[in-house]
Parts: sequence; C-alpha cells; structure tokens
Amino acid sequence: MLNEKLLNALNRQMNHEFFAAHAYMAMASYCDYHSYEGFANFYIQQAKEERFHGQKIYDYINDRGEQAVFSQVDAPKVEFNSILETFEDGLKQEQDVTHRFYDLSEIAHEHKDYATISFLNWFLDEQVEEESMFETHIDYLKRIGDDSNALYLYEKELAARKFEVEA
Ligand SMILES: [Fe+2]
Ligand SMILES: [Fe+2]
Repeated sequence: MLNEKLLNALNRQMNHEFFAAHAYMAMASYCDYHSYEGFANFYIQQAKEERFHGQKIYDYINDRGEQAVFSQVDAPKVEFNSILETFEDGLKQEQDVTHRFYDLSEIAHEHKDYATISFLNWFLDEQVEEESMFETHIDYLKRIGDDSNALYLYEKELAARKFEVEA
C-alpha cells in the first residue's frame, strides 16, 4: 500500500521517464539524419537508460501492491540547430528530472514512507551522474568548436557507448 498522493507522483514520474526516452530518441533521430552516427548512438543508449528508469519505478509500484498507470506521452522537441544544442537540452531535461525527484522525495518524507525514500535515493545519486555527464559533453563540444577532426574522434568514442544494466 502506498499513500495515494505518493502513488500518483510515482506514476507521474514513471511516465516522465518514458517521455525522457522519447526526447532522447528524437535527438538520436536528428543526429542520425545529419549523419552523426556516434552521437545518435549516444542518445539511443541514453533512451535505453531512461526506459530502464521507467521500468524500475514500474517494478517498485507493483512491488508495493499497486498498479502502475500509463498515460499519454507528450511529443518531444524534434528540431535542433546543432549537436551542441541537443546536449544543452539534455542537460536541461536532466536538471528538470532532478527537481522532480526532489519533489517526490519531499512527498515520501511527508508521509514517512522510508522504503520509498530509500528507493528514491538511488535516483538522486543517478541524477548527479546524469547532470555531470551532460556538463562534461557540453564542455568538450565547446572546446572542440569547429575542429572537425577532433569532433570526428570524439564521435567515434561515443559510438562505442553501450548502456548496460548494473548487476
Ligand atoms: Fe531517468
Ligand atoms: Fe536521465
């Protein structure tokens, strides 16, 4: 049993993780269309990670004896002016998600739901990683600037990225 307000907030976040996956797939598609396959791969892996987050919340809701409820997923932004812009948007998205988890944690605290607080802590740690990763990519891309050789090498590195669920 979960408090109703907390359950609704968890359901909202589960759906939001799938929206995040959608948004990253739209970025992947932009990259692929412009033949930046390494960056496209980065976003495809990122989308997998977001779906994993959604699944994690889904499992938790069910483990607590409740029903995970799916709602409409908003259309993501599909047009970008540059690769850098996709990373800047990605960072904004992650910052927004971090705040959503803060709000969720606050509701869990309100209801003294210690199991959910513990569950949410994993996401708070994860968000630190996510924001830091996007910040690093933005710094690299700005440093690379118009150097197409450096961009090529950087992209090769991202082409090798593979999302794997930790044991
Ligand atoms: Fe996520
Ligand atoms: Fe994320």
